[in-house]
Amino acid sequence: MFNDRHFPHLPSLALLLLFLRLTLATSPPQQDLETPIARFQKYLRFNTAHPNPNYTAPVSFLTSLAQSLGLKTRSVEFAPNKPTLLITWQGSNPSLSSLLFNSHLDSVPAEPSKWTHPPFSAALTPEGKIFARGAQDDKCIAIQYLEAIRNLKARNFVPTRTIHISFVPDEEIGGIDGADKFVKSNEFKDLDVGFVLDEGQASVNDEFRVFYADRSPWNLIIKARGVPGHGSRMYDNGAMENLMNSIEIINRFRDSQFDVVKAGKAANSEVISVNPVFLKAGIPSPTGFVMNMQPSEAEAGFDLRLPPTTDPELVKKRIAEEWAPAVRNMTYEIIEKGPLRDYMGRPLMTAIDDSNPWWSVFKQAIAAAGGKLAKPEILSSTTDARFMRQLGIPTFGFSPMTNTPILLHDHNEFLKDTVFLRGIEVYEHIIRALSSFEEAGSV
Ligand SMILES: *[C@@H]1O[C@H](CO)[C@@H](O)[C@H](O)[C@H]1NC(C)=O
Ligand SMILES: *[C@@H]1O[C@H](CO)[C@@H](O)[C@H](O)[C@H]1NC(C)=O
Ligand SMILES: [Zn+2]
Repeated sequence: MFNDRHFPHLPSLALLLLFLRLTLATSPPQQDLETPIARFQKYLRFNTAHPNPNYTAPVSFLTSLAQSLGLKTRSVEFAPNKPTLLITWQGSNPSLSSLLFNSHLDSVPAEPSKWTHPPFSAALTPEGKIFARGAQDDKCIAIQYLEAIRNLKARNFVPTRTIHISFVPDEEIGGIDGADKFVKSNEFKDLDVGFVLDEGQASVNDEFRVFYADRSPWNLIIKARGVPGHGSRMYDNGAMENLMNSIEIINRFRDSQFDVVKAGKAANSEVISVNPVFLKAGIPSPTGFVMNMQPSEAEAGFDLRLPPTTDPELVKKRIAEEWAPAVRNMTYEIIEKGPLRDYMGRPLMTAIDDSNPWWSVFKQAIAAAGGKLAKPEILSSTTDARFMRQLGIPTFGFSPMTNTPILLHDHNEFLKDTVFLRGIEVYEHIIRALSSFEEAGSV
């Protein structure tokens, strides 16, 4: 296990390392690319944040990195200026299905003024923290995939199954021009993918986290109409009253789900979450709102997240009959932001039992790497993995980051160098095990 900070009896070595780190932290971006950390930093320095990610430079960097390892590369644009980069390490038995390791090229924006280091500096601090937007989400795994292959090649390992790595655009804005178009393409079909690893999330303890499903987001907007009236009058069925009745009912449902979590019977991501995100009502006046009039329209917006086991029809029935019933002069709109079922109509989740042979191979690989695996989870949010699962391809979300605060989309996102380097070792075991796994046959 790589750890260079536990040599209390070797102060000179510690000082030397400290000096090296300080040197790295202050050296200009065009430093050498001799180490995995330097290559990680280089990739982090490409600003691929929305709303205007430019994918050209990072794709050419990754392409030359892959070519220097003797890997085949191919860039395909499924939408203008939105390349998907495909890297291939040919296996010795092309009749077996292949493995795909996915990551996204883009990131969410960062507010530099809220950061202790500029978000695209990839500054390495004396404690070994690498600060950058994308350090956890998910530029780490992109470089770790390639570094693991570098190490395996150096040991003359030959994969049996072909290994593909994909770098896709636009995950952070829904993946419509990225993974969605990619998995529906002939290029993807030709890969004959049998199993996918995509991004996961950091773990605050020493257990690696793995995700077998994502929750599916819905946007719900409910609208109430009612009789308008003077602000002084008490009467039934005003728009505000109708809306507030609905909000109370929705809130009771929210509490019932939250109670299950609070009682420890389910994780946050295993229940339906429904959270109010906007309220809109009132008659505007030059100074704010007219105060002596009860409006005839009012609306509210909710963010819903549905675990894959949810029956979407039951939720729709609940919305139609209880949350926004026509008999209370309510209407509603549901915007489904992602699928809940695969192409066969099955819940969008990857099996974590013996029915999925990849699961035990993956588990064994983590054990072989000396790692502990936490109980598999449903991810609270959404990733590109849903597009692969929709095709029925077993897909896990996994980012090997233990003892790391969860900072994706947050200010001061960082990853420790030791955690990053340990992740490379973990992927070496994973790639070795999965690519040598032959029993799955046509799986
Ligand atoms: C993207 O970056 C490349 C250089 O890396 C530049 O040539 C190109 O003009 C940029 N594209 C846009 C749309 O800014
Ligand atoms: C529904 O709207 C109609 C017409 O404005 C009104 O007469 C009725 O009282 C309303 N009913 C409810 C439950 O709000
Ligand atoms: Zn991500």
